[in-house]
Amino acid sequence: MASNSQFNLGSPINTALFLFILYSVQKIIFPSVPDTENKKKQPTPTEFKSGYTWSPKTHPPTVLFKTYTPKMLQPFNGTDNPRILLAISGTVFDVSSGRNFYGPNGMYGNFAGRDASRGMAKQSFDTEMLTPVDQPLDKLTDLTPDEIDNMKGWIDHFSNKYLVCGKLVENDAI
Ligand code: HEM
Repeated sequence: MASNSQFNLGSPINTALFLFILYSVQKIIFPSVPDTENKKKQPTPTEFKSGYTWSPKTHPPTVLFKTYTPKMLQPFNGTDNPRILLAISGTVFDVSSGRNFYGPNGMYGNFAGRDASRGMAKQSFDTEMLTPVDQPLDKLTDLTPDEIDNMKGWIDHFSNKYLVCGKLVENDAI
């Protein structure tokens, strides 16, 4: 008579276990390698269909650091162009995400596409704060230390919130 501890291959559970172990050992000894050479290459998807394998039709827009003159900056005043730029103390910020502030109906729309340094320094929207775009850059030499500090505070605010996308130079510098 067979004892209970004997391995009985005739039992269905033992047979299944034995086959599973055989299969696992075979997988370890002969791991399957994907046959990439013989398989026809899948074309790279160009648009989303389903699942996760997709790529956009075109590359998303990138922001390049550029040199702007006051005349080049002006078209980015939010009226015709979705991009809105402004400059403070020679640094050009892309404030497009702040369209509520700088768009045509925004509270600070006067600064859009312009050198906003003086207005930011003096905390003023007055039109005299903006240098005409065909004039030389505002040298800001008459500003008081407090006004300079105020302007630097705005530069900090803009640096933390928006992308720096260029520098502002004189119209005849390019
Ligand atoms: C009646 C006076 C004013 C009120 C009630 C006011 C109100 C505001 C409010 C509520 C914000 C939004 C703050 C935030 O969400 O971070 C803001 C931001 C701002 N304010 Fe004023 N403001 C006033 C005057 C001025 C003046 C005179 C200037 C001139 C420089 C100015 C320039 C700005 C700028 C540049 C921002 C930042 C917008 C941004 O983050 O892009 N504000 N103001």
